[in-house]
Amino acid sequence: MAPTKDDMDAAPTDDPNRPAPDGAALELTVDGRPLRVPDDGSTLLEVLRTYAGVRAAKDGCAPQGQCGCCTVLVDGQARVSCVTPVRRVAGRTVTTLDGLDPEVRHRWAAAVTACGGSQCGVCTPGIVTRLVALDDKKPQATTADVDRALAAHLCRCTGWQTVVEAWELQRDGDPLVALAGRDLAAATARATLECGVPQDVGPEVSLGRAGFAADTAPADALVAVPDGQGGWAVAGTVHAARQAAGKVQGRRTTEPASPPLQVPDGDWVATLATCWVEAAYVETDASWCEPGGQPASPAANGGAFGAKRGSVLPAAARALADEHGRPVLALWSREDVARQGFKRPPVAGGIGADGTGVLRLVAVEGVEAAVAAVAPGLQLEMVEVPGPPVSSAVRAAGWAEAAALVAAVGAPSDCVSVDDGAVTVVDPVHGGRATVRVAAGTVQVEVDAGEVLDAVVVRSYCIGAVHMALGWVTSESLTVTADGEVADLTVRSFGVLRAADMPHVEVHVVGDGAPPARRVSDAVFAATAAAVWRAQGCPPVWPTGTLLPASPVDAG
Ligand code: FES
Ligand code: FES
Repeated sequence: MAPTKDDMDAAPTDDPNRPAPDGAALELTVDGRPLRVPDDGSTLLEVLRTYAGVRAAKDGCAPQGQCGCCTVLVDGQARVSCVTPVRRVAGRTVTTLDGLDPEVRHRWAAAVTACGGSQCGVCTPGIVTRLVALDDKKPQATTADVDRALAAHLCRCTGWQTVVEAWELQRDGDPLVALAGRDLAAATARATLECGVPQDVGPEVSLGRAGFAADTAPADALVAVPDGQGGWAVAGTVHAARQAAGKVQGRRTTEPASPPLQVPDGDWVATLATCWVEAAYVETDASWCEPGGQPASPAANGGAFGAKRGSVLPAAARALADEHGRPVLALWSREDVARQGFKRPPVAGGIGADGTGVLRLVAVEGVEAAVAAVAPGLQLEMVEVPGPPVSSAVRAAGWAEAAALVAAVGAPSDCVSVDDGAVTVVDPVHGGRATVRVAAGTVQVEVDAGEVLDAVVVRSYCIGAVHMALGWVTSESLTVTADGEVADLTVRSFGVLRAADMPHVEVHVVGDGAPPARRVSDAVFAATAAAVWRAQGCPPVWPTGTLLPASPVDAG
């Protein structure tokens, strides 16, 4: 759909603080400055980003109100701005992360960086804003209060523990001292190795300034969103584009998720069938492009655990920019990501005591060598089924499932071993090694990452990988209909573990630290999944629906 004349008239100038259009009818105060905006049904988030140049408030799920990325303070109270009609806050005072007391902001940025409490950084401004409000309201807040506050947020990268540690450090310690002497270039190198695309580490990332495509598009860019019919609705603002697309926001279904593949017949000691799961990266796909230009990457500060590799947004932004002769920002909503984003290929497999068996996968290319290295006795079968797109680039696709089956029976493998209940996995692609032991309320992780580069980032990535694996085995799933449509479209329906659900994770770095540096988080992910599954007695379907056992476990 082409932009209307009204949309074009409303297009901004190069000033990121877009002038209020004629007829602006609502006034509010944003970060100490007056703002006039149209009374057109926009949300507070839309006007903050469109007319006030705010970039600290992010759009991770609008208008679902479930990820917390857009959290701001309204008269000092934390609010998710994507479900707050701007009409409701007329005359009131809105404070974003950027409008907080600079000393508080810098203290928080240093604390988050010192603890590894931010990786991609897209969730961090909203989390910090909410926790600042918590501290203001309740100076004696406890970690249980923090866990409750974090229930309004989604962080896919960190596994929460380091976020809580950052809250403790900014409150009780000296974050600047904690950060002093840290080699942030080495930290950046480790983060980039772990996520597979460039990722900066530093206070600016903790403040949400990591260069996300949705934040860096020129102020005069048109905005394009999927129109629900295979095309794009294009308009002068996000609000206008979404109105033009006319989509009704989807919800979660009441239908339970189930594995799409059947376990092959055989005399198996262990079987495993997995469901569709959402990668649940928080920065939804976005790219912008000038006519004839090079599109911005949708993975500006992190790789979405492989799920953005092959994103269609850059090509769309380029084509639309060429078509309209203007810069265009192409945007996916949370619902678009759930429907169209790359998923982990579901599996169904069985394994015998000698390690021979069959592993069926929803058809995907590029996993054969890694699966063969981990589980040489497993025969691979690819099966076409209706469903969202799958990718072998998603974290440890196929081989983590193979490792779990091998660990379940203790079959011989160069990459997997079990000793006294602890599972050791060597990443067949990147070479990192991890040993994971599950005990009551604790996950113990030992990693050999080669040259460490930065121990804080290694630890942060290990805890994040534990969180993702634990959720995958126990709680995460997507319902997909028989004709392949994703029916769970909201953040809360993905089953990502909350901060309050996370066990304590202990990370120990072992080995001689000699170069080269080796990615280790995928090995932690696979070893955690295998160890948790064993600790639960290897139930045949993931998610298993139960968290860690309540008593110490020796599943060996
Ligand atoms: S963007 Fe508002 S809660 Fe997710
Ligand atoms: S750091 Fe929280 S989602 Fe990436």
